[in-house]
Amino acid sequence: MKYELALNSWDEKEIQAVQNVLDSNHTTMGECVKQFEETFAHYVGSKYCVMVNSGSSANLLAVAALFYRKDNKLKRGDEVIVPAVSWPTTYYPLYQYGLKLKFVDIDLFTLNYNIEQLQSAITDKTRMVMAVNLLGNPNDFNKINEIISEKNIILIEDNCESLGAEFNGKKAGTFGIMGTFSSFFSHHISTMEGGMIVTDNEELYQILLCLRAHGWTRNLPKDNLITTPKSDNQFDELYRFVLPGYNFRPLEIMGAIGLEQIKKFPSFLSKRKENAEYFVKTFKDNPYFYVQKEIGSSSWFGFSLIVKQDIKYARKEIVAILMKNAIEVRPIVAGNFTKNEVLKYFDYELHGEMNNAEYLDAHGFFIGNHHFPIEDKIDYLMSEMYKIPPHELKHTTLNAGLSLRRAA
Ligand SMILES: Cc1ncc(COP(=O)(O)O)c(C=O)c1O
Repeated sequence: MKYELALNSWDEKEIQAVQNVLDSNHTTMGECVKQFEETFAHYVGSKYCVMVNSGSSANLLAVAALFYRKDNKLKRGDEVIVPAVSWPTTYYPLYQYGLKLKFVDIDLFTLNYNIEQLQSAITDKTRMVMAVNLLGNPNDFNKINEIISEKNIILIEDNCESLGAEFNGKKAGTFGIMGTFSSFFSHHISTMEGGMIVTDNEELYQILLCLRAHGWTRNLPKDNLITTPKSDNQFDELYRFVLPGYNFRPLEIMGAIGLEQIKKFPSFLSKRKENAEYFVKTFKDNPYFYVQKEIGSSSWFGFSLIVKQDIKYARKEIVAILMKNAIEVRPIVAGNFTKNEVLKYFDYELHGEMNNAEYLDAHGFFIGNHHFPIEDKIDYLMSEMYKIPPHELKHTTLNAGLSLRRAA
């Protein structure tokens, strides 16, 4: 038995979609990407979607776009609140655009913002809150909206880990002015690499279209919200550059694969949720680990386990045992991000202590969830943990505990 962190979810449908694109001889961004964007926007309930080459690019483009709109634009030095646990490319665009990052601790159970800390971090200087929905778990957007309401604070969402999650019946990624998604290999849908930005704001949508491809006007409508109307003379309009953009275009193949994956996604999601139900039931009332506490309806990217305080020296041994038994394991996202050397480049502040992020960093680990039933893998995980011979564990409390759990 093997328990993997991530597995391929493609079959002959995706292979055929790739083949069709190759046969068409049109492999750069085109009709399939456009159709995928429309389908994706419809699925999450947003007006617009822009596909790019990664979730990291989606974050960078979303942050950049806020600098180029007509009103209420961000400017260098503005303060942005971020959680202490997320992926590096949640933070890098903020640094790259000269924003000041204010790190706030997470909640040890939901792994999203500690709401009290978030509330106390907000000052007159706060211009934006970056909400990260961690590992499939949406934030409590009622509380976040309450905290920022009547203040001129922009909310954006890094939803790269939480496609399909919902809060109060609304899809995660649609609560902020923009929401970003990733379709990297290990995510809920896979175009191998890939990212999406969704928004209901037409001006931001057009800015994103422009920034995605060189900052030129080519992908804009004739009458647009960024610049003067486009010329009817195609030649004149071919190389007109209006924003300092990038080239983040996806391949047409990615759009074609995305179209197949999004058709399968409702089934992927229900399997992930069923697995999660089994996982949570299995670990419920376990005296040794915290499992992630769901807010709203999680789409369960994977399963985090955090060793409880009274047996906090055991993670090293547990991880070694899991790895020895072909159960793949990794840290939770990137642990406490504020510990990293790269912060020396940032303009940043820690809002108090990052105690929970630090605890997760030192005592947490993460195992996979999949788009198909994995009850057997979850049983295997439990049975391997129970078989741990006493001499392999330095900390006897854990072993005694596991025996107790088995007896129960
Ligand atoms: C929260 C978060 N943001 C952004 C990204 C970046 O996505 P990508 O790997 O597609 O660049 C990831 C990747 O896993 C992520 O977990």
